[in-house]
Amino acid sequence: MVHIKTSRPWEIPENEATPESVFMTRRRFLAGSLVATVATAGLISGCSPPPGDEPLISDLEKKIYPAPLNKNYTLDRDLTDESVAAGYNNFHEFSDEKADVKTLAQRLIRRPWTVEVSGLVSKPRTFDIDDLHKMLPIEERLYRLRCVEAWSMAVPWTGFPLRVLLEKVEPDARATHVRMTTFYRPFQAFGQLAFWEPWPYTEGLTIAEAMNDLAFMAVGIYGHPLPPQHGAPIRLVVPWKYGFKSIKSVVKIELIDHAPATFWNTLDPLEYDFTANVDPRVPHPRWSQAREKMIGTGQVRLTLPFNGYGREVAHLYAG
Ligand code: MTE
Repeated sequence: MVHIKTSRPWEIPENEATPESVFMTRRRFLAGSLVATVATAGLISGCSPPPGDEPLISDLEKKIYPAPLNKNYTLDRDLTDESVAAGYNNFHEFSDEKADVKTLAQRLIRRPWTVEVSGLVSKPRTFDIDDLHKMLPIEERLYRLRCVEAWSMAVPWTGFPLRVLLEKVEPDARATHVRMTTFYRPFQAFGQLAFWEPWPYTEGLTIAEAMNDLAFMAVGIYGHPLPPQHGAPIRLVVPWKYGFKSIKSVVKIELIDHAPATFWNTLDPLEYDFTANVDPRVPHPRWSQAREKMIGTGQVRLTLPFNGYGREVAHLYAG
């Protein structure tokens, strides 16, 4: 007898079922929203500091902007409109809703701010953010930014090469990797109240990647200091890697002798590889990486290996 299976109204085909990874992300999102709702309802407002009220641009910064453009780093496409880039942000510390980050991140207090550079180095130092502005060569670079979610943008960053900062502390020959850490301030960034996640956000590079001229520490964007939603007052930008490697609001850079555990890789190693070089051939469980969609214009382009920066970085991965 032939067994015919009739589907019931509530059944969905297997290929339409929510993949586990998406379900887990939603669960994280729902739990995170709950925490944020409780916090914004004022239940913990007594512990919260007032939102940052620093001037938008200090006298020191006024002298720096606009910074000279480094002509080695220009683009084959129009820049993303600033209002689009500044309203579509991934900053898990504040919200998983891209459109909400801009408002919630205003709570981040950006001064005083220091960056510790330590670990396997001869001259460990903690730099005040304003001193970094004074002592390092600040320039503008136009970079593509590609998110693992398959959207992209083109952005003018202001800052300095990471290499120049690392040279100040004289890395030891034993150092193989760099670990970077974001602030941990759950009462400014309510997403960090999700105690089951491995806060603070951390990311890592190999020493060769960190010393490559493309690896950039940005303190500004679109010709002015970084606004909080873009990772004020200082963040990494590594344009040949998926965006999650470009860690925001950095407080510590350590030189170490092993590959560090990182935030997303710890939560979901199948989706967030440590190396995470942009590569159209490497499939991702959720987003095809063959194409990218420019935010703002919706223009679709073929993904380029290393996000188009193969000439600068492909040699790092030869063999
Ligand atoms: N850094 C921290 N600390 N927290 C984050 O959630 N998100 C990353 C990265 N850096 C993130 C972070 C991701 S997924 C992307 S795509 C980029 O920041 C987005 O940068 P943008 O908002 O400036 O475009």
